[in-house]
Amino acid sequence: MSETVSVLFVCLGNICRSPSAEGVFRQVVEKAGLGEKVRIDSCGTGDWHVGKAPDARARAASAKRGIDISGLRARQFQESDLSDFDYVLVMDHQNLADVDRIWERAGGTRPELFLHYGHSSHEEVPDPYYGGDQGFETVLDLIHEASQGLLARLQETLT
Ligand code: 4NP
Repeated sequence: MSETVSVLFVCLGNICRSPSAEGVFRQVVEKAGLGEKVRIDSCGTGDWHVGKAPDARARAASAKRGIDISGLRARQFQESDLSDFDYVLVMDHQNLADVDRIWERAGGTRPELFLHYGHSSHEEVPDPYYGGDQGFETVLDLIHEASQGLLARLQETLT
């Protein structure tokens, strides 16, 4: 059991999927009354969008569900994240391969596919960047479902 727990969501650009996961999971955690106990952050394996706000389509899709992610700013994954976070949750197999390569050298928290905490048959949160608005709705649906499973896991470990 522990007093607090930290969760890092990782995608490629940190402007679509992982900031959406950060926003959705924060809402889920706060509704469960655990906002003070769970630290949540997100980042990307790539550096193209560092310092930028989430994609406008991701902001709009989240806003429709009462979630404001407009204040988030992209940052790149760094090796120290593996020792700073208790959970490192990636969106797809490419993210997993990229972070696993660093984990094999540096150790720390082993990255996992986020959707393993959900019940759907999907293993990956599909990259919505080059698609239409529906892709962003699918991202939020998959993320919300996995967030419920992750919350249940954290509730088992928090005092
Ligand atoms: P994300 O989506 O990894 O969910 O933030 C992407 C954002 C930007 C790019 C790719 C994916 N990009 O190639 O610029």
